[in-house]
Amino acid sequence: MDRIPTARPSWTDEMRDAAVATLDSRHWVKGPKGREFGEKFAKHCGALSAAPCQNGSSSLWAALRLVGIGEGDEVIVPSFTFIASATAIPLVGATPIFVDIENDYWCLDVDAVERAITPRTKAVIGVHIFGQPYDPRLIELCKSKNIALIEDAAQAHGATQISVSGDKLVAGSMGDVGCFSFFPSKNMAVGGEGGMLTTINPELTEKVKAITNHGRTPNLESMELGSNLRMSEVSAAIGLVQLSNLDKWVERRREIASKYNKNFDNHPAVSIPKVRKGANHAWHQYCLFTDKSQDLVKHLDENGIDSRIYYSIPCHHQAVFSKHPQFEIPLEVTDKVAGNLVAIPVMHELTEQEVDHIISTVLSFKN
Ligand SMILES: Cc1ncc(COP(=O)(O)O)c(C=O)c1O
Repeated sequence: MDRIPTARPSWTDEMRDAAVATLDSRHWVKGPKGREFGEKFAKHCGALSAAPCQNGSSSLWAALRLVGIGEGDEVIVPSFTFIASATAIPLVGATPIFVDIENDYWCLDVDAVERAITPRTKAVIGVHIFGQPYDPRLIELCKSKNIALIEDAAQAHGATQISVSGDKLVAGSMGDVGCFSFFPSKNMAVGGEGGMLTTINPELTEKVKAITNHGRTPNLESMELGSNLRMSEVSAAIGLVQLSNLDKWVERRREIASKYNKNFDNHPAVSIPKVRKGANHAWHQYCLFTDKSQDLVKHLDENGIDSRIYYSIPCHHQAVFSKHPQFEIPLEVTDKVAGNLVAIPVMHELTEQEVDHIISTVLSFKN
């Protein structure tokens, strides 16, 4: 059996044909594919509108600009996330306030968020970590305090969560602005770098599109500070085909995760990930908790399986934040979990034979 990687993006004849046809059309930027991709993505996640963009990191920068964050503002963010969730904040001149995560689900702890709110708090960036939606109480808290909620859904294409009032929310419609990444390892991709901005806020439906195009109106007047964050037409054409497969692919991830859960439930050296009530996890990553993470990675590696430790260094302890007042301050759960989660392959393209090999390898890990 070939080595099993942590990610294997789908690439089919249909995607190749869509890419080639778009190149042949010579309509390479600002065209119908980008518009269609935005419209179909918005529909898929129940948002009012969406704009394809260059990557998840630039979508976070744009989201902060869209809700008016700048100099002097504080933005609450988890430290247990990919670095881009945090660095977007100083990139618009604001200050990140790092808040701890929940012991069970590793998303922002809503009670800790409430305690961290000050008169300068203007936004919260919630992250659906590994594909598990954040606590829906975060939405209610932000509404009641009149604070913008930016939804970092870079890992959560296809995730859903029952809201406090019992409605089914899809990732991309759980905050004022949703931010997605189409990095090749994600639940869907675009054949290169890519991202998406979504919104459920009627005041932002046109602005999410404009900010990716220098804040311009259709008659080419720049109304707001923006930049060229546009996605190329060829990427959008590939994205459209990938999007039409997303639900099926996320179901396959759920099937694999459920098989892992059944097999690893009573494992002596690892604990399985917990799923929040009302959540339909998108399983971008399936992470096992273990205090022997290095040994597990080595054991998997010796058996031809790639894996990865998440997140070895929480954001607030990273050198880029060495001058931040929280740099050396511990965050209890964040510091406990960091470095102790091992993500094993869970991508939709895994074969049954590969899934079985991963299961037997984890079962043979005896700490
Ligand atoms: C939670 C989170 N936010 C933001 C990003 C940034 O996305 P991109 O790599 O497309 O810039 C990622 C990408 O890995 C991510 O996982």
